[in-house]
Amino acid sequence: MKKTVSTFQDAKKNGEKVTMLTAYDYSTAKLIDEAGIDSILVGDSLGNVILGYEDTISVTMEDMIHHGAAVARGAKNALIVIDMPFMSYQASVYDAVVNAGRLMKEGRANAVKLEGGAGVCPQIKAITDSGIPVVAHLGLTPQSVNAFGGYKVQGKSGEAAAKLLEDALAVQEAGAFAVVLECVPAKLATLITEKLDIITIGIGAGNGCDGQVLVYQDMLGMFTDYVPKFVKQFAQAGDLMRQAFTDYKKEVMAGTFPEEKHSYKIEDEVIDKLY
Ligand code: KIV
Repeated sequence: MKKTVSTFQDAKKNGEKVTMLTAYDYSTAKLIDEAGIDSILVGDSLGNVILGYEDTISVTMEDMIHHGAAVARGAKNALIVIDMPFMSYQASVYDAVVNAGRLMKEGRANAVKLEGGAGVCPQIKAITDSGIPVVAHLGLTPQSVNAFGGYKVQGKSGEAAAKLLEDALAVQEAGAFAVVLECVPAKLATLITEKLDIITIGIGAGNGCDGQVLVYQDMLGMFTDYVPKFVKQFAQAGDLMRQAFTDYKKEVMAGTFPEEKHSYKIEDEVIDKLY
């Protein structure tokens, strides 16, 4: 059954955990959907894991629409959330609504996600007023990496922790139906989860959140440029893939692939006439 915003609201009420993974293409989305994961995030992390950028700053609306639409074709049941890329919503409320609309119409999102707290509440309110569900994103918000001076745990001081809680309450008030908490101390994420009526989805935010999200290349051991402390590798798919590519090369070089069972037949007399 298709997961909706209500699925997440019900999960919070019933104290059930929710699951989210990223995906950026049709085949992976299909596999994640078949595993029963509640939501697929087409994250702007695609800038890092798909396009090989060092951060998410260069990711465009066209990138998000292109990958979002592929994911939407692959996932029947999971709620599809597409990230609003850097500068698609920060400059004005008008930009935010128009670009959120494009992610829905062209990317076939079920909801959009944007980074920031009180400062982007006018955007969250205007997007939700347009009938588009919004997921907020607080803590380590990678689009602000230049302002943070690196990828660091957020909310550790008393002042920073109070600001994070204030921002979480503000995005809820503005209409967000969920909030991602990234790289936040576990006890603070638990407190925020208890104070909010909407679901919290943690990444590097401990076990007290209502749900969890991971980048799929991280949890499959496929992306090793940098492995954050919060990542658990549930498989070593990177090793499996490298081995399969090596075996393929060996067999092609040795002439043992393809075998007859991989080839198509033609009547001998048809071929004989061509000699
Ligand atoms: O872009 C992304 O994949 C994200 C997750 C890390 C939450 O925002």
